[in-house]
Amino acid sequence: MVLKLIGFSKHVIFSFIKTIILLILNFILHKADSGCNNSVTTSLVQFPPNEVLISLQSQVLDGHLSLKDNEDAAKDFGNIHHFPPLAVLHPKSVSDISRTIKHVFEKGSDSELKIAARGHGHSLQGQSQAHEGLVIKMESLQGHEMKIHSGEFPYVDVSGGELWINILHETLKHGLAPKSWTDYLHLTVGGTLSNAGISGQAFKHGPQINNIFQLEVVTGKGEVVTCSENRNADLFHGVLGGLGQFGIITRARISLESAPKRVKWIRVLYSDFSLFTRDQEYLISLKDTFDYIEGFVIINRTGILNSWRLSFDPKDPLQASQFNSDGKTFYCLEMAKYFNPDEVEVVNQGVDHLLSQLSYIPPTLFLSEVSYVEFLDRVHVSEKKLRAQGLWEVHHPWLNLLIPRSEIHDFAEVVFGHILKDTSNGPILIYPVNQTRWNSKTSLVTPEEDVFYLVAFLSSAVPFSTGENSLEYILNQNKRILDFCSHAQLNVKQYLPHYSTQEEWQAHFGSQWGAFVERKRAYDPLALLAPGHKIFQKAMSTFI
Ligand SMILES: Cc1cc2nc3c(=O)[nH]c(=O)nc-3n(C[C@H](O)[C@H](O)[C@H](O)COP(=O)(O)OP(=O)(O)OC[C@H]3O[C@@H](n4cnc5c(N)ncnc54)[C@H](O)[C@@H]3O)c2cc1C
Ligand SMILES: *[C@@H]1O[C@H](CO)[C@@H](O)[C@H](O)[C@H]1NC(C)=O
Ligand SMILES: *[C@@H]1O[C@H](CO)[C@@H](O)[C@H](O)[C@H]1NC(C)=O
Repeated sequence: MVLKLIGFSKHVIFSFIKTIILLILNFILHKADSGCNNSVTTSLVQFPPNEVLISLQSQVLDGHLSLKDNEDAAKDFGNIHHFPPLAVLHPKSVSDISRTIKHVFEKGSDSELKIAARGHGHSLQGQSQAHEGLVIKMESLQGHEMKIHSGEFPYVDVSGGELWINILHETLKHGLAPKSWTDYLHLTVGGTLSNAGISGQAFKHGPQINNIFQLEVVTGKGEVVTCSENRNADLFHGVLGGLGQFGIITRARISLESAPKRVKWIRVLYSDFSLFTRDQEYLISLKDTFDYIEGFVIINRTGILNSWRLSFDPKDPLQASQFNSDGKTFYCLEMAKYFNPDEVEVVNQGVDHLLSQLSYIPPTLFLSEVSYVEFLDRVHVSEKKLRAQGLWEVHHPWLNLLIPRSEIHDFAEVVFGHILKDTSNGPILIYPVNQTRWNSKTSLVTPEEDVFYLVAFLSSAVPFSTGENSLEYILNQNKRILDFCSHAQLNVKQYLPHYSTQEEWQAHFGSQWGAFVERKRAYDPLALLAPGHKIFQKAMSTFI
């Protein structure tokens, strides 16, 4: 019914909020002076290779060890921390990795040479860097054959350095695909499984770490261990969400489902936060619901409803002029329903029925239809546009929080109502998940309530800016948000956590800290791995 009113056209493509931001950034950038490089100063000092490195060089490898031109390994998407390593290993085999780690491990705790696996380097705060250490470039392992197994519980075996986008394309050849995703697919398996991998499917399937049957891991002692729920389960659970602390993921067996061909992609707006969250929570509680549920916040975006209207089919003009968005806050609920062409009638009825139960502002219903790949790879479209404008490799002071349902209203009132003036620095995602179906044995730290919200402040700092779009301003704003959470004693947890002291890490892990330390002692006793998180600065023998 609603669908018919909208005059649905499959040729309509979303005009993303991200595109709007891009235009704003573009506008600001054009006004700014150009011509100088704004990157944070990088130390390019050549360090003398230490003793371990010299002996490492005599190892026989399938790949190679590089001691020069390793500046890239000191970069990441956050573009805030830059710590150059002494060497980069480009492994061609798992034994390259195990041999190298074993060698460093056997040199003992005086070697001081830390080791970081680097996936696609899309960390935000130097997590894949190793200051004066050794970086293992996991993408060199790519290209190892992906093995797809169909049957009742289909899966694919992939390298830890494989990009999710490649896995999508390969599995689709067999009509299959992974179940749980991230919003952006140019990330490696090892990189997202070390965190969680959360997107709009996580309310249904859990995060990516919930959808793994088996891993092959090289521990901090250089041992190659295969692990799963039934075999070396402690290492398996430890590594999932384990921030790279217990081992390097060299292979993963990922659960698959049959892949849909098409996606109905829907956005609606709310001005009332309570109605917005009520509808989101209602949708995730249903058995028969959308396949993807997310949402985002739009604060004081001048003319948002006009640009909203432009993205509609011009044959079906939106009566949005009755709204004046300036100075106001809106909440966009974003939903997707997967389907195959032969099911279109049933799917339309199902979608109509779900939408008829929601309380959004009626003329803001925006519906589109795209292929499954177009839907999943949507952020890559924005990436290409931003890259073309030189706006991709800017500073990204992101902040990701997991907020218990009982506290989301207090949080929203202060943060969206008072701390943030607008959302011109980047999207703010907000959506709930019910973690009763999530595996609680992994290393991932979440709030204790069943239902919590992911709130992601995905800010970009504008180069050369000194005002409200500058890195300093945004970092300060993030700090104000975190300070508010701690003063109001909200039981918030950081996702993609970043702390600089062990006390803060201990507080982050809370009751899980003891188990985390025990696993470190068991699998990486010299604390060689993933030093960029700054969780363990010393070998476990000296750790109290
Ligand atoms: C544009 C963009 C969108 C994003 N969207 C989402 C999202 O929707 N949902 C979400 O959950 N996250 C999202 N992220 C965050 C992303 O999942 C993490 O930053 C992830 O770590 C990046 O993967 P990477 O391959 O670049 O890892 P890297 O940055 O290279 O590494 C991240 C960490 O994992 C460790 N590591 C890397 N490879 C391995 C391995 N094989 N074994 C063990 N440890 C390893 C590193 O040492 C480091 O500590 C997004 C990031 C970006 C830049
Ligand atoms: C979360 O999921 C569980 C199990 O499906 C369910 O019993 C519970 O009611 C859900 N909680 C909410 C608040 O939706
Ligand atoms: C909204 O933005 C406009 C222009 O960007 C600004 O003049 C106005 O003060 C802002 N309103 C609020 C409530 O912050």
